[in-house]
Amino acid sequence: MRGVRITPAQQEARDNLWAKFGVEFQESQIDLETLFPKSQPIVMEVGYGMGEATWQIAKANSSTNYLGVEVHMPGVGKLMARLDEYELTNVRLIERDVFEVLYHMVKNSSLDGVHLFFPDPWPKKRHFKRRIINERFLADVSAKLKLGGYLHIATDWVPYAEWINEVFSQTKLFTGGVIERPDWRPLTRFEGQGISKDHAVNDFRFLKV
Ligand SMILES: C[S@@+](CC[C@H](N)C(=O)[O-])C[C@H]1O[C@@H](n2cnc3c(N)ncnc32)[C@H](O)[C@@H]1O
Repeated sequence: MRGVRITPAQQEARDNLWAKFGVEFQESQIDLETLFPKSQPIVMEVGYGMGEATWQIAKANSSTNYLGVEVHMPGVGKLMARLDEYELTNVRLIERDVFEVLYHMVKNSSLDGVHLFFPDPWPKKRHFKRRIINERFLADVSAKLKLGGYLHIATDWVPYAEWINEVFSQTKLFTGGVIERPDWRPLTRFEGQGISKDHAVNDFRFLKV
């Protein structure tokens, strides 16, 4: 994902559509409800990449609002072009590190769910500390979820699935674990590439307790 460059067409889409779908990062809390035309459950998607799952899920679930957070820019224009094409009004996007977004902008107990699809696996041991799933992520996500809110994670890297089991076995903030692949999660190009390399995909669903 990191090597992907933004194309001129994607840059143009981003510039033209930012006012419609973008949310400026700010170092103060916002009322997430005010970002969307309809007051309805809000799900944050962390690291949406090229946004393939984002627009498909949003299109299929018009009674949920989705807030996408991505630190790396290339996918934003492509995703905004899709949102515009399908006239989706239930998605807003922030370009920033999710830890900063959660810390500064999101009120406690304000999210109904969090999606984390195919987080960077950082397979080398010396890079494990870069893995997004860690004690701090669990604490931050738990604080921002409503009671009973969910965290859905998918990974195609078995050692990372084992890492997820390990990290969650040590917390009292969540309950849950591996589930069958849900029908609502679209098969993206990214996931397809993993499957073609025989990567087993694991889905996890955790509830805030
Ligand atoms: C392996 S990609 C998967 C992208 C997408 N979810 C998919 O399934 O195709 C992981 C993404 O997470 C983003 N990411 C990593 N750390 C992040 C952070 N702290 N905040 C926001 N996004 C992050 C990366 O920029 C990258 O686009």
